[in-house]
Amino acid sequence: MIVVHRALRSLVLVGPLGILLGACSSTPAQPSSGASTGSGSGGAGSGGAGGSGGAGGGFTCGGTGVDKGPWSLAVDGTSAKIRWEACRTGTAPEIVFAPEEGGAEVKAAAVETSFVVANTYTAALAPDATPDYAGTYFMHEAAVTGLAPATCYAYHLAAEPGRKGRFCTARAPGAAFTFMAIGDTNPGIGPYAKDVLAHVLPKNPDFTVHGGDLQYYDSKLETWASWFPPMEPMLAQGALFPAIGNHESEMPDEYAAYTERFFGGAGFDGKNGYYRFSWGGVWFFVLDTEEALGPGSEQATWLAAELAFAVKQPGYRFSIVDFHKPWVTCGDTADAPDLRAHFEPIFANTGVALVIQAHMHGYERFDFGTLTYVTAAGGGGRIGDPDMNKARSYCDKRVASGGFRHAVIFEVAPGKLTGTAIDDQGMVRDTFTLNVP
Ligand SMILES: [Fe+2]
Repeated sequence: MIVVHRALRSLVLVGPLGILLGACSSTPAQPSSGASTGSGSGGAGSGGAGGSGGAGGGFTCGGTGVDKGPWSLAVDGTSAKIRWEACRTGTAPEIVFAPEEGGAEVKAAAVETSFVVANTYTAALAPDATPDYAGTYFMHEAAVTGLAPATCYAYHLAAEPGRKGRFCTARAPGAAFTFMAIGDTNPGIGPYAKDVLAHVLPKNPDFTVHGGDLQYYDSKLETWASWFPPMEPMLAQGALFPAIGNHESEMPDEYAAYTERFFGGAGFDGKNGYYRFSWGGVWFFVLDTEEALGPGSEQATWLAAELAFAVKQPGYRFSIVDFHKPWVTCGDTADAPDLRAHFEPIFANTGVALVIQAHMHGYERFDFGTLTYVTAAGGGGRIGDPDMNKARSYCDKRVASGGFRHAVIFEVAPGKLTGTAIDDQGMVRDTFTLNVP
């Protein structure tokens, strides 16, 4: 049994999305009955815990019983985790998978773990958005091993074959591959996140690096139940490697839900908030900017040690660091010169070529010579002002920027890394190539 932590993990940071007046709608994820008085601003709902028999508080657990997912996490060359959630116990706990290129189908069993959601949350400004009802839910995780490297697999749930996706195992060092970076998705505010995904996913990325702020209770326009359907194309495309954003802790039990119900354990050799993974000889380090990161902190010590470890591994090419709150930005949020001063010499010594950041709702690219910073934070949320702090001393190093929704497709090839920022209308807004090992 997973226990919900009631204490706030951190103070809620209300960003520019405190109030949103734009038109919006969300697609209900589940049939429901009855009314919920849960508050979108943090109050407990009236539903109460549903006990062991399923979700409660006005929620009807219909159909197959599967209510979220599937999605995949923590993929390496030979293993993957596939997760989904059911609203009642006892649904068929298997996935069925096979190589996309053809091959025999294989079944893999999942472990079912119950999770008690203590509070009902509704989206106050989006009455059609399915509430996150209090109750007991049943997380499933199929930990698949023995996979072939550099192979993409298609899978579906035995409990509901229409719920399906794909994941690709990691490529061998030196191989070419494509991945996607997106951040600050907030799909409840309009069609933007869906439109961005519709234009970038045809590039067929192996996996997605999400810079954090996946779902925004604070927008009062969405819940986790309404978040999953529009984000399903991203989840079905490949593994998700998310960073923790400030909006992952808006409600008292949201961080516990994020980590224990949905996206914890997304990578390797770290914790829920920070971890690493590697692909094609490129090492990725996902950091948690909501936790201490300064010199001497556990996370900073971990990062320095892991970078030093990565450099020594056979086939090492270069590294990419990804996190939520930007260290450099000319936009409407704070920067972090102290963290730059501490980490950039370490990055220079360990082959970090690219930093991907989020939180400033727009696009930025900074060229500092051997290190490039990209702000990829226009995944769907309300756009901020990328020029609000343009007087910052380093803003002459910003070589591209704009207030538009987008995701970035990164193509890694021998000797080069190409980034292409694509907006929600399919227009290429920026493209650049870095010379990398
Ligand atoms: Fe944020």
